Amino acid sequence: MKVLILGVNGFIGHHLVSRILAKKKEWVVYGMDLGTDRLGKSLDNPRFNFMEGDIAINREWIELQIKNCDVVMPLVAIATPKLYVEDPIAVYNLDFEMNVDIVKKCVKYHKRIVFPSTSEVYGACSDPEFKEDESFLVVGPINKERWIYSCCKQLLDRVIYAYGTRGNLEFTLFRPFNWVGPRLDSLDTAKEGSSRVVTQFIAELFMKRPINLVDGGRQKRCFTYVDDGIDALMKILENKNDACKNQIINIGNPRNECSIKELAQILKKLFKQHPDHKNDKIYSEIVDTSADTYYGKGYQDIYTRKPSIEKARKLLNWEPKVGLEESLKLTLDSFLKENKKAKI
Ligand code: UGA
Repeated sequence: MKVLILGVNGFIGHHLVSRILAKKKEWVVYGMDLGTDRLGKSLDNPRFNFMEGDIAINREWIELQIKNCDVVMPLVAIATPKLYVEDPIAVYNLDFEMNVDIVKKCVKYHKRIVFPSTSEVYGACSDPEFKEDESFLVVGPINKERWIYSCCKQLLDRVIYAYGTRGNLEFTLFRPFNWVGPRLDSLDTAKEGSSRVVTQFIAELFMKRPINLVDGGRQKRCFTYVDDGIDALMKILENKNDACKNQIINIGNPRNECSIKELAQILKKLFKQHPDHKNDKIYSEIVDTSADTYYGKGYQDIYTRKPSIEKARKLLNWEPKVGLEESLKLTLDSFLKENKKAKI
């Protein structure tokens, strides 16, 4: 099978390509990204064809590869809430416009698409567990610009679904729920305060800066370890007996639910136990801040976000295995190892 991964150097992309190359000797990967810093040994593998490029510029190469490959995974997107409120037009241009173009090319060449939807599409849904084919997708007013990401992704889901139901596209939409793990976000993005919460908190601990709990940190997320997520994605790509054909599938770990306040406390505890930091003289304080101060007026939070994974269990015979503390420890250890010599 030939797999095309756009955004192959991203968090999900680089973990996926490394798993494919290790486990699927008969698969070949074609990948594009702006950079290579996360790709490591994958770059040396003869079954990985990498092109350094930009999806907004290298359109001919992309079209050629869509024609050539069996399955297409467009993973290029801005996915950090700080950027949704700072530059919503950039989010729209990249996350929607560039991606809808790829969707149309998959229709044109009759190629299967495995597309990253997001837990964000459920927005402020009040269901205790979000169900792919039942839950309402609830977003806030237009002046809360945070929702542009959710809306872009929702419209793409709807476009893909409509092509699919009319027989013009074979698809699987997967919805990651707060995946965490090595190389989630970089120290650089955390320095400017624009990384996702787990990297942000680890980086604050590392830099001895305060950990900010937005609105008291009572909002909850279900953190999912990336290896569990990649297990599910591999099964989606294998697509045994067409089980995932034209399906939407949540990929998350409902057992790993915790509040952002608890998250800060666990990470601080793990950091203080780490061999490189157990004798540090000071540690970050955990402080409260308001959403307006931290993100600006265009932000609105999501208070609970728990996936139902009944579909993933049934269709993929999949179950997430890595618990909360273990997931956070693995993420923290990897971040500290990689940034040991970083100048801050
Ligand atoms: C994320 C992003 O939108 C995407 O990465 C993705 O689509 C989706 O969720 C997902 O991974 O499932 P969110 O969970 O809100 O959204 O993003 P984070 O930046 O990780 O924030 C989580 C929570 O921590 C938010 O309530 C935020 O207000 C809080 N937070 C964040 C803090 O309290 N302090 C911080 O320094 C940073």
